[in-house]
Amino acid sequence: MHKNFLCLKDCSADELNYLLRRAIKLKSRFKAGEVYRPFEGKVLAMLFEKASTRTRVSFEAGMAQLGGTSIYLNTSETQLKNEETIEDTARAVSRMVDLVMIRTGPHSRLEAFAKESEVPVINGLTDFAHPCQVLADLMTIRERKGSFKGLKLCFVGDGNNMANSLIVGGIKAGMAVRIACPAGYLPDAALMDWARKTGDFDCQPDVLGMAKGADVVYTDVWASMGQEGEAEERRAAFAGYQVNQAVMDVANAGAMVLHCLPAHRGEEITAEVLEAHADEIFEEAENRLHAQKAVLVRLLG
Ligand code: CP
Ligand code: NVA
Repeated sequence: MHKNFLCLKDCSADELNYLLRRAIKLKSRFKAGEVYRPFEGKVLAMLFEKASTRTRVSFEAGMAQLGGTSIYLNTSETQLKNEETIEDTARAVSRMVDLVMIRTGPHSRLEAFAKESEVPVINGLTDFAHPCQVLADLMTIRERKGSFKGLKLCFVGDGNNMANSLIVGGIKAGMAVRIACPAGYLPDAALMDWARKTGDFDCQPDVLGMAKGADVVYTDVWASMGQEGEAEERRAAFAGYQVNQAVMDVANAGAMVLHCLPAHRGEEITAEVLEAHADEIFEEAENRLHAQKAVLVRLLG
């Protein structure tokens, strides 16, 4: 596997499958109460330049359960606040720890850190990609559906970091991927080109057309972190892009609903659909823990 975990595009289909199998195994051993502490003395530094609930807790709990420890850093309490460069931060921090996780805005900032880092770097979300989330999403689909064969995943909403990573992860896993997204808010053009050439992919503004026959319906917020100022105009642009009963009615019977969370009920998803699928959505959240343990073990193992 690649030294870092920055983007699912860097991961081969075999590597992705390996991580999923490993995650599912780690989960069942953990649930059975087995103690597995290969990371005695190992330290993960986590740099958050944006807010987080799940990513922080899953990495922190995961490192502790594996016998290691973690350090929580955020921009406002480090010298990044005083304009130390990301490169110098990488050169200093990576000499003292075994692994780094970063959540930031520009993907280029994550790449700049990774380029200078002495140790593996994990993407904990950028504006471009959220690979840890999609690993947990694929794990949840695999656990509940048994395999990806013949499945169709439909993402409804903003062509954001989640859409980008779901396109790559979904296609690499072997699913058909459909994106329902309004003009002006499309996913990354190069990723869509790649998806069209590699697998069964389509992106159209027509929500019901894209969701028809879907086995997994996925959505995410209309305004991501950093886009709070656009919230009003985005509410207008995405008004028809809601996962509601009408969408579920055209999806396959027994379709799953996934959401990376946090959710805004009444915007990208109705409260009814979210609550009807809460066991899937919150298991998806839990699976961040298990999926990321597989990444940690792979990068440090
Ligand atoms: N889904 C996700 O990454 O959640 P947090 O923003 O809470 O970390
Ligand atoms: N698209 C969202 C995902 C949050 C997990 C954001 O970037 O804010």
